Amino acid sequence: MKERIRWLAMHGVVRALSSLLARRGDPRGRLIADPNVRANPIAFTDELRERGPIVRCRAVYITVDHEVANDLLRSDDFRVIAMGSNLPRPLKWVARHTNTGLLHPLEPPSMLSVEPPEHTRYRKLVSSVFTTRAVGALRDRVEDTANTLLDDIGDNAAVVDVVQRYCSQLPVTVIGDILGVPDSARLRILEFGELAGPSLDIGLSWPQYRRVYRGIEGFNSWLGDHLRQLRRNPGDDLMSQLIQASDAGAHLNDAELQATAGLMLAAGFETTVNLLGNGIRMLLDAPEHLATLAARPELWPNAVEEILRLESPVQLSARMAGKDTDIAGTLIRRGEVVIIYLAGANRDPAVFDDPHRFDIERGNANKHLSFSGGRHFCLGAALARAEGEVGLRTFFDRYPDARLAGTGSRRDTRVLRGWQSLPVQLGSAHPVRL
Ligand code: HEM
Repeated sequence: MKERIRWLAMHGVVRALSSLLARRGDPRGRLIADPNVRANPIAFTDELRERGPIVRCRAVYITVDHEVANDLLRSDDFRVIAMGSNLPRPLKWVARHTNTGLLHPLEPPSMLSVEPPEHTRYRKLVSSVFTTRAVGALRDRVEDTANTLLDDIGDNAAVVDVVQRYCSQLPVTVIGDILGVPDSARLRILEFGELAGPSLDIGLSWPQYRRVYRGIEGFNSWLGDHLRQLRRNPGDDLMSQLIQASDAGAHLNDAELQATAGLMLAAGFETTVNLLGNGIRMLLDAPEHLATLAARPELWPNAVEEILRLESPVQLSARMAGKDTDIAGTLIRRGEVVIIYLAGANRDPAVFDDPHRFDIERGNANKHLSFSGGRHFCLGAALARAEGEVGLRTFFDRYPDARLAGTGSRRDTRVLRGWQSLPVQLGSAHPVRL
């Protein structure tokens, strides 16, 4: 009963209101409740762009303007928002009194929902172990993992769901290796992730909400046990180092440490799966680019930037004004929220010529905002880029004749955008291992 009341406060009311507002054409209502917007976000962001750099909706603003989005992400006058913190006062009261204490990626102490000084403390701790050098050393491991997964799939003329067999497996294996997650736990973690995927969305239905919470509950309980075990028996993995660094200096309490470690792990596999799936799909649809990449493999890093730009795995973020601020001629009052549509900013014609064109040689593809910006810039961006580049190149080197074998289906998420399944006829494998 308590759970249902919490759902009503956090999601149910917003969901009902959004359906109503969507029918009246309110963009925020449509973003949450209109299935066409999820099916075709590009048409929606183009429509918003026609209405100016910052669009006023019921209770919030939305921007798809690259300059505004970039400024907001870097501004000290805007802060990240903890889920539920901008609800009307009575709903906030209910949410507070029905809090289950479960760690959620959008609630404190998650790094995504706090600002300095806490944010600086958590981020410093992660950066102390997740260094550029440590990530640079992972490239070979990414390649080995990709090859092992493809060896398992084998020289296979059959149709394979590449999301299930490859795109979802590569990131969880890599981040699992880095963080010292035993092989035996990976399947369970993927299952938790599958359930909790929509946890970044608002306006969830009751069944969705139940599934998300089952996923988060399972993940938290597993992670708590895992951290306790590593504390007793540290390994040479980054999670053990994170615990030691916390004990030695940063002094995160148990909840802070678990939220930080959990976010690293979950962000490590929930997002990159979408980069790989989106990339495979886009390249299968553009054989001319595959031919260019086969002839000029040095273009792979730029191709990955272009894939990130056009199909942002994280579509949106949001910030709340800490004080009255003028943005592009609009006064945003303290406490008001701006939805930053990263995927829309990535197609701003003021920055990207012919923005909807897939161009692996685009000179400024890396100006996308898919990894956000400012204080909350993605901590895993270097790893995600390496996984995207190595993961896609290894796949297409092995299966140059791969082709789509069905339409596939999208994940049932709004903030995260990617494929749930993608059937591909692999063709015969070309041996690439010496
Ligand atoms: C293609 C893959 C990825 C994408 C598109 C992505 C995107 C993002 C975005 C947009 C944010 C910031 C959200 C905001 O500003 O509100 C973020 C934050 C974060 N990401 Fe990633 N991410 C990816 C992969 C990864 C990986 C592989 C890891 C970990 C190994 C990771 C760890 C994090 C962490 C810890 C944060 C929080 C940073 C902070 O709040 O200071 N991400 N990511």
